[in-house]
Amino acid sequence: GKSGYDHYMLKEINEQPDALRQCLSGRLDELEGTIEIEELSDLPAPGSVHLVACGTSYHAAMYAATLLREAGVPAAAHLASEYATAPAPLAEDTLVVGISQSGETADTLTALREARARGARTLAVTNQVSSTAARECDDVVYIRAGPEIGVAATKTFSSQLVASLLLVEDLVDVVDDLDPLIEALRDLPGAVQEVLDTTDAREVAAEISGSDAFFFIGRGGQFPVALEGALKCKEISYEHAEGFAAGELKHGPLALVTSETPVFAIVTGDGERARKTISNIKEVEARDAPVVVVTDGRSEAARYADLVLEIPDTHPLTAPVLANVQLQLVSYHLANDLGRPIDKPRNLAKSVTVE
Ligand code: F6R
Repeated sequence: GKSGYDHYMLKEINEQPDALRQCLSGRLDELEGTIEIEELSDLPAPGSVHLVACGTSYHAAMYAATLLREAGVPAAAHLASEYATAPAPLAEDTLVVGISQSGETADTLTALREARARGARTLAVTNQVSSTAARECDDVVYIRAGPEIGVAATKTFSSQLVASLLLVEDLVDVVDDLDPLIEALRDLPGAVQEVLDTTDAREVAAEISGSDAFFFIGRGGQFPVALEGALKCKEISYEHAEGFAAGELKHGPLALVTSETPVFAIVTGDGERARKTISNIKEVEARDAPVVVVTDGRSEAARYADLVLEIPDTHPLTAPVLANVQLQLVSYHLANDLGRPIDKPRNLAKSVTVE
């Protein structure tokens, strides 16, 4: 049942601290200072990585690809439906990773089969034990999110992000100093709980629910979160929403920005990405767009915001998980205010088994 929640989606959003604890369980060794996914013990470090996935899982694949590239490994996320007919060239040591909550998505299975037929080693990142992807791939990493009933993926996306981070760190070294990352991962379920307990998402949703279009911008690891924020918004609220890499705004989408189009900007850390995204916020502000900033408070981004959604300060690599929870909640409350059937949006199915 829904355990007292109005919708499975809200229940599953609230289950994220537990889902992440499960995902992390036995995979962090704080004493040794290591991260290890047991089931991967004999997988060699890949020379390059192709990630294939659809929808929300594709956004997790983008995040994983960003991590791999930061670690110096050539990697790209591919939409599975495109990869199946326009595959990227494989090298001998290319690993092809399929990310799929259900492990049954036809487009993703076809892309993985295509890669396997060309001789690639394949790995599935999935929530479903013994799913087709898990059975057909050479290796499998379980995200351990538990069952997800709501059609809109929520806790499984968070668990995909964390499982991807563990996977990439296990295969190649993403960071020089692992201790702060291990600490941030250990504290992540509690930080998600803090977001759930203190969020202003409901108030933000109420402020903007009269608009007909919503934009989401982010950079680096927050770019896929911007895309995911927009996807969740369109899926369950039926409102027009688009996510952009913050730097792309001025290359076209800015023409759509008016005083009627709220822009969600995700700004974490205080580095170059934050500084540049703040410039982008100023560009949309100059067009009178309502600006909602999702931030850890480490930059001055909140100063340029009409509304702020705060997240706890965490490691740069775990910040996308926290920012995404705020955006999940905004979409949920927006859809709820608009009276949409949240758990079963029109025209959508939980598992898409046709190409
Ligand atoms: C969005 C959503 C879909 C799925 C996509 C892939 O909320 O759930 O976009 O992410 O259909 O599904 P899986 O992960 O099962 O391959």
